Amino acid sequence: ERGGYKHFMLKEIHEQPDVVEATLRGRIDLAAGDVHATEMGVTPEFAKELRRVYIVACGTSHHAGIAGRYWIEQLARVPTVVELASEVRYREPIFFPDDLVIAISQSGETADTIAALKAAKAQGAKVLALCNVLDSAIPRLSDGALYTHAGPEIGVASTKAFTTQLAALLLLAVYLGRRRDSLPAERGREILQALWEIPSHMREVLGDADYVHAIAKRLVHAKDVLFLGRGLGFPIALEGALKLKEISYAHAEGYAAGEMKHGPIALIDEALPVIVVCPRDAHYDKTFSNLQEVRAREGQVVAIATKGDESILEIAQHHVWIPKVPDEVGPLLTVLPLQLIAYYVANLKGNDVDQPRNLAKTVTVE
Ligand code: F6R
Repeated sequence: ERGGYKHFMLKEIHEQPDVVEATLRGRIDLAAGDVHATEMGVTPEFAKELRRVYIVACGTSHHAGIAGRYWIEQLARVPTVVELASEVRYREPIFFPDDLVIAISQSGETADTIAALKAAKAQGAKVLALCNVLDSAIPRLSDGALYTHAGPEIGVASTKAFTTQLAALLLLAVYLGRRRDSLPAERGREILQALWEIPSHMREVLGDADYVHAIAKRLVHAKDVLFLGRGLGFPIALEGALKLKEISYAHAEGYAAGEMKHGPIALIDEALPVIVVCPRDAHYDKTFSNLQEVRAREGQVVAIATKGDESILEIAQHHVWIPKVPDEVGPLLTVLPLQLIAYYVANLKGNDVDQPRNLAKTVTVE
């Protein structure tokens, strides 16, 4: 049942290219540079009229939501907020009928996310479920559903659910952008083409995992690990840190690279591994200067970088190459080595990777 893999988590990591294909299948119209997903229940009229997107989720699904905000704001020019469901539900939140509320959840059964969604519905907002498990509670309570089609995720640490959520959110951003005339067909086509090609790049990154073993060996004794990223790299840094802490039990923190100066820089010394998500995207120069600041304080740098980036070789102790792809689809690649690093560190420690201590796959109580 684990298909020859030692753990479900490793199997699910390697399934990602196939399941991302499943998320995209039948939803992309390349010729038109457009997306078809009527099951979402977001009519062209509502897509035009909506004034705000409000994303609620927990854990890994919340990290996908942060990437979703970047895409929706950039491509569809809709103000977007992303909130932890557990905070929304107790905060007397304010929703409007022209809000599109998106509840992101792998299981579709997370108690806090359900409560946030109910609060939104009670105030007349339109609710879209972005879920993996068919016909679970969240899609049943929503006006429409965009399913990720990742198949059953058994490992407690979420992997393929996350990358399929990313793919679905980028589809949604393109759909909204096209309806709102903020995204020209040509640009829509470029992004969708890049998304269509991403599974083969994912296979390439996953196929060459030797580098990760070396990095995992370096990290296995680390008590603390800092993950940094900027722009779309920020939610990936958060997700990398969450994966590592969940299954390896090391303390890990994900931080926006630009916030380093506002606190975490105090932690940096020769004992602290710093994993930096720094592909050659629009934020590269800024993130690179953060990386230099880490090096100036003797921090040990692991860079997730674009293949052939010579400057990285001079500054990072370890690096993982990612193929050059358009900025928008970068997160679907940069997260993969972080999942593998967490997996191999936990495995070297002999931890129960699929059933980490204290965690449940579906959190149906708050
Ligand atoms: C992380 C993880 C949890 C879930 C969170 C939300 O690896 O598994 O953080 O992401 O409990 O679960 P869903 O997406 O089912 O609502």
